[in-house]
This record gives sequence, structure tokens and C-alpha cells, in this order.
Amino acid sequence: MKRIFTDCRVVTLDTDISQPDGYQVRENQMIATENGVITAVGENLPTAGHNLVSLQNKLVTPGLIDAHTHLVFAGDRSGEFEQRLQGVPYQQIALNGGGILSTVNATRNASLEELVKLAIPRAKALMRDGVTTIEIKSGYGLSVEHELKILRAAKTLKDLLDINVTTTLLGAHALPPEFKNDSNGYIELVCNEMIPAAAQEGLADAVDVFCEGIGFSPDQMMTVFEAAQRHGLHIKGHTEQLSNLGGSALAAKMGALSVDHIEYLTDEDVEALAENGTVATLLPGAFYFLRETQQPPVGQLRQHRVPMAIATDFNPGTSPFASLTLMMNMASTLFGLTPQENLYGVTRHAAQALGMGNKGQIAAGFDADFAVWDLTSPAQLSYQVGLAPLCARYLKGELAHDA
Ligand code: NIG
Ligand code: FE
Repeated sequence: MKRIFTDCRVVTLDTDISQPDGYQVRENQMIATENGVITAVGENLPTAGHNLVSLQNKLVTPGLIDAHTHLVFAGDRSGEFEQRLQGVPYQQIALNGGGILSTVNATRNASLEELVKLAIPRAKALMRDGVTTIEIKSGYGLSVEHELKILRAAKTLKDLLDINVTTTLLGAHALPPEFKNDSNGYIELVCNEMIPAAAQEGLADAVDVFCEGIGFSPDQMMTVFEAAQRHGLHIKGHTEQLSNLGGSALAAKMGALSVDHIEYLTDEDVEALAENGTVATLLPGAFYFLRETQQPPVGQLRQHRVPMAIATDFNPGTSPFASLTLMMNMASTLFGLTPQENLYGVTRHAAQALGMGNKGQIAAGFDADFAVWDLTSPAQLSYQVGLAPLCARYLKGELAHDA
């Protein structure tokens, strides 16, 4: 199927962020596609033999990519929100058996079907915000059976909804009660059973670890990453969120696609990211919701030309926000990112954070995943929140259905 989208005002993001062209609105453009892949972008493309679709001079960007979510879970943590407002710290709630483990209890008690049903409205909210690709992590099962159930639910979403889904096994998210005082024993289970099972069934594209005082040590993270790499899976980390343990630099040196949160990154850590081509994924929703004060080192990341991605981190404990454009606004207001950096962060750089070389730009050879907006400038995506400016999404050149 050959199709040409006409009357487009396009933001292609087809240049490195240091070059202005990729962020400039190009007027009166056509985008040619064949079998869902872009073949050309330009002003006057030959149209013979193509099906023509006018995008009516709307603003067209690559479909947004949410590169870090924990979308599949059961239960509710609004009670913890109330506790935190009364002064109980997030770490303390976790140490008292709440936090991640409270979501683990609810998620273990839910069936696959229930998990899918709960996740659908969350995914739809992201879709209404222009998202065409979403990463979904497990991490609220903490046993082989329940981690795989979460990953299967995530894969099911892809069959039920018009959205691309990539999955990440986050077995090393917290220590399950069965392994209390035996954290190395749990890491062995993750490496010897969970990762092989997920890899064998094709349920995970990547493996993640929560490297933190209330999570796992850098050594344990390394053990998990080695197992992931033996099974051909990408690696990425939740690192330097609440303290600095050196997890980000270690992950980068091992070839991680991204390190995420990273408020406590040092200058040397930033250099390690730059040297290894690791994306810095900023999660302003969690920073905001935990009322953190430690800023990620945005100036240093810029100076070392480390690509920055922005994601929702959608989860019940630290970021219950199903809006990627809200995160763009927060990335500007809380971290000082420019609207240009934000748009790169939810498209081109987000694709890089997921190892998706075929997404995140409007250029020949890339998947024809677009978001079409009733906006005049791309900066408006970071500037206003809640006005629902999305007109349509296209997935591999086909109009996506939302509802
Ligand atoms: O990305 N940091 C660890 N994991 C999640 C939070 C999980 C939770 O509190 O349920 C995060 O912030
Ligand atoms: Fe997270």
C-alpha cells in the first residue's frame, strides 16, 4: 500500500538536537509511505499510484513515545499519598511493608484479565495525549508466575488497542516477602528462572533493576544485567533516584540503553553516560509527586551532549500521571528543559532509550507513526495542559482508533 499524506505542517526531528532544522515547522509538506514506512518527505512528491490523505495543514509530529511506565498493576495507593502528606517519607512507607509491596499484593491477587482491564483506561489516556508507543515494565509480581502474568497482560494490550508496546522485565524491583533477608537468593531466582522464562517466551525486550538502598545494590544489578545480556535482552536501570550508589555509571559501562530518574547523578556519572551512548531518562512526575528537591544535572547532561528522554513513569506510588504532555510541561517548569528538548525527549531520544532505531522521526526509512495536532507551534505541546489538542494518530501509516 502506497500512501501520501498531503497538506502537512511537519516537525520531523530528523536532525541531531544541536541542529535547528529538525525542530522547525516545515509548511506544505507531503509524507510518502509504503507499507507503513516513510519513503520520502518533501514539498512536491510524485503522487501517481498513491492513495492521498490530506492532513489539512495540521501540525504533524512523530507519534509520542512513553519510554518508561509501570502501567500494569492492581490496587490503589491514595492512602499512602495521605500518609506522605502527613510527613511519612516514601522510603519509610516502603520499609514498613507498604509502597511497592502493597501494589505487589494487589497485583498477585489479580488475574491476567483483571490486570488487562485495569490497564486499558491508562493506556487510552496516553493515546489521547498523542502516544503511539509505550514501554511497560513488570515489577509488581516479584515471582516467576506473577512477573510473567504482568508481561503477558502488557502484550495483550498491544492486541486490543492501537498502540505499540515494548516490554521490560523489572523482576529486581523490590524484595518479595518470601526472600526477606535473602536478597542474593532472590537475585538468583531473577537470573536463573525469571529472565530465562521471559526470554524464552519472547515476553521481554529489556531487563531493568531498581538500584537503590530500598532496592538492589550495584553488584546485584550487574549480576542481573549479565544474565539479561546472556539472553540477548537490552538493559536499563532505575538509578540514582533517591541517593547515589554508582548504578548509572555501571549500567552505562555495561551498555545500558538508558538510566532513568538520575536526580543524584555526579559529573563523572554524566561522563560515563556520554562515553557509552546511554540515554538519560528524566521522570519529572516522580520528582514532583515525591516533592524531591535534588535536581537532575541538566546543565551537565547538555554540556556532554547526553540525549535526554522524558517519560511518565506512570505507576501508583510515585507518578500516577497518565499524560506525557504534562511531563513535558513539568520537565520545563521543574528541570528547565526547553520545549525543543521536551519534544526530542518524547520522540527521537525516547526511541533511542528503547533501542527502536525505526521510530521517533519523520524521515525516510522510519515507521509512519504520527501524531496530528490542532496546534500552531510545537512549543505549545509543552506550554498548555489539558486542552486535548490531538486530532489523530497514525500507526504505520494507518489511522489509529482511540475511544
Ligand atoms: O519508578 N523507583 C522505583 N519504582 C517506581 C515506583 C514504584 C512504586 O512506588 O510503586 C518508580 O518511581
Ligand atoms: Fe519507574
